[in-house]
Amino acid sequence: MCGIVGYIGNKKASPILLNGLSYLEYRGYDSAGIAVIEVNDIVVKKDKGRVKNLSSLNGINELKSSIGIAHTRWATHGKPSMENSHPHMDNSSTFCVVHNGIIENYNELKEFLISKGYNFISQTDTEVIPNLIHYHYYNKCKSSENRFLCAVKSAINDLVGSYALEIISNLYPDRIIVVRKDSPLVIGKSENENYISSDIPAILSYTKNFYLLDDNEFAVIYNDHIDFFDENLCMHNKEIKNIEWSASAADKNGFEDYMLKEIYEQPQAIRETIGTKLSNETSCLFDDLKISADYLKTINKIYIVACGTAMHAGLVGKTLFEKLCKIQTEVDIASEFRYRNPIIDDKTLCIYISQSGETADTIAALKLAKLNGARTLAISNVIGSSITREADYTIYTHAGPEIAVASTKAYTSQVVLIAILAIFFAELLGSCDKNIISELKSDIIELPIKIEELLNNVDKIKEFAKTVYTQKDMFFLGRGIDYCTAMEGSLKLKEISYIHSEAYASGELKHGPIALIENGIIVIGIITDSNLVEKSISNLQEVITRGAKTLIITNQNIGNLNFDNVINIPSTNALISPILAIIPLQLLSYYISKNKGLDVDKPRNLAKSVTVE
Ligand code: F6R
Repeated sequence: MCGIVGYIGNKKASPILLNGLSYLEYRGYDSAGIAVIEVNDIVVKKDKGRVKNLSSLNGINELKSSIGIAHTRWATHGKPSMENSHPHMDNSSTFCVVHNGIIENYNELKEFLISKGYNFISQTDTEVIPNLIHYHYYNKCKSSENRFLCAVKSAINDLVGSYALEIISNLYPDRIIVVRKDSPLVIGKSENENYISSDIPAILSYTKNFYLLDDNEFAVIYNDHIDFFDENLCMHNKEIKNIEWSASAADKNGFEDYMLKEIYEQPQAIRETIGTKLSNETSCLFDDLKISADYLKTINKIYIVACGTAMHAGLVGKTLFEKLCKIQTEVDIASEFRYRNPIIDDKTLCIYISQSGETADTIAALKLAKLNGARTLAISNVIGSSITREADYTIYTHAGPEIAVASTKAYTSQVVLIAILAIFFAELLGSCDKNIISELKSDIIELPIKIEELLNNVDKIKEFAKTVYTQKDMFFLGRGIDYCTAMEGSLKLKEISYIHSEAYASGELKHGPIALIENGIIVIGIITDSNLVEKSISNLQEVITRGAKTLIITNQNIGNLNFDNVINIPSTNALISPILAIIPLQLLSYYISKNKGLDVDKPRNLAKSVTVE
C-alpha cells in the first residue's frame, strides 16, 4: 500500500510528481506529500486527504525545483494527519524519505535513536529511516568515498520489514537514491530525465523504458544517468525493459470511472490473454512455460493460492484442473496457507494468482512452497512483479493496467488463462476426451463476443440497481461453479457499495443462513450448469416462499417461474460460465455504488495492492 513517485531532470518536478500521485492514489489515499530541493534546501508540502488537497496547498505551484520525491499514503502506523504524512525528514532537515512498506523493528530503532539524542514528530515507522541515515552519515560513513550511499545502505542494514524508499538530501541536490525490498519500485528512463514510481502506468505517459529494481538493489539516479549497486554496493549494469502498454491504458478514456472502463475493456483483455496460446487447430502452447508431460505425470496435487478476487479465480481453476486433468486441486487463501503447515512436497505444483504480483501474503505463501520442495507457477498481470521473480514458472494475463481498486478485467482474464493452462496440461497428459477439449476451446474463443453482447445490454441491470441501492443486506446463491460467481459477486458488492452481503452454496442455505431471509430481502441466484438447474431452482423457491425478492442470472431454460427479475446471459460451457455470469454482477455493484454517490474507484479503507500482511 502507499504509492511513491520521484523525478529528476530538467523540468519542474512538482507537476510531474502530483500527476504521478494521482495515478497511484489507488494504492492509498488518506494523505499525500511531496519534497523538492529548492536552492539547497528541502521543501516539504504535505497534508492528510487526497492528492487534490495537496495540489491546492499554499506555495506548491511556486516550487521551481527539478528534483523531488512524493507519496500517497494508506495509513499503517499513526492515523492520517499532517505529521504522519510522508515525506519525513531527519532532525537536521538534511535527509528526506518517502517509504512504501512496513518497518517491523521501528520501536527498537526509535529507542536507539532517542538514546542518541534524536526527536520524533510522527507516530510512523518511517521516521526512523531519515534519522538512521543521518546517524550513519555522521558516524559510520564519515570517511566513505560514497558517503550518502554508505549511509543509506547502513540504515537499510538496520531495518527489518519491507520497503521501497526514495531518499534525497540537500547535501546532494543532483541525485535521488532508491532501494527496495518486498515492495515494488520501477525507474523510467528518458532523455536527460528519470522517473521513479511504485508502478508502471503512473509514469507511462513519459517513457516506455523501465528498469525493474530487484530486492536489495540500490539505484543512484541522476538526470543523465543511473548507477546500480548490489547489496554489497558493487556497481553493476542493468537490463532495460521496453513496456508495450499504451499511455492511454492508464487513462479513463472518456469513462466516468476506471472501474467502468475496465469492465468494458474485458473483451479486449481476454483477446490479449488468449493471444496465440489457444487455437482450434493445434494444441495449446505457452511460449515460455517449460513444463513437460513427464513432470506433470509426477504431480499428485495442485494448490492454488491467492487472495480476494484472485482466490475466486482459483476456485474456478479447481474445477477446471480436476475435470480436465484429473489432478486433485485445493484452493487456499494465501494468509491462511502460509501459517497452517500445508502438506506440500516435490509432487505438488503450487499456482499463485496475483493481479499486482505484489500481494505480501501471496508472495510469502510462494516462498513457503519453494522451501518445501514444490514447484511454483505465478499468474500475474504485471511484468516483472515480485511474484514473477520468485516463481519457477510465470504466465501473464494481458489485461493491461487495472487501476480501479475493485478487480474486474483482471479476474476474467485470470479465469481465461487458468482455463487455457488446464487445457494445456490436459493435452500433455491426454487426460480428457478430445471432443470435450475442442468444444471448450471454441467456447473460450467466443467469450469476447459474448461479453460484448452483455455490455451492449445493460439497461435491465441499471434499472435493477436503482431499485435496490438502499438495501442493507443481500444474498448471492449458486451451486457448483456458480458458487464461485456468487462469492465474487458478493465481494464486488461489499467493497464498492458497502452493502453487507453473503454468498452461499445454495444447498447450504437451509443449514442455518435461511433464518436471515425475511420479507423483501434481495437474493441473487446464478444458474449456469445444466446439471444443477432443478436443484438451484428449488433452493431459490425456498427463499421466495420466505419473502425474498430475486434476481436470477442464467443461461439455462428456467421456465416461467415466479422470479422477480431475470437476466439472460449467453450460453457457454459451464466450466467457464463464471466469466460471463460475473459481468452483470460487476455492473450491478458499479451502478449501486453510483446510485449511492460513492467513490467507485477508491472505496473506503481499501487499497489496490496489499503489500503488507
Ligand atoms: C477485489 C480485489 C482484491 C484483490 C486481492 C488480491 O476486487 O481487488 O480482493 O483481488 O487483494 O490482489 P492481487 O491479485 O493483486 O494479489
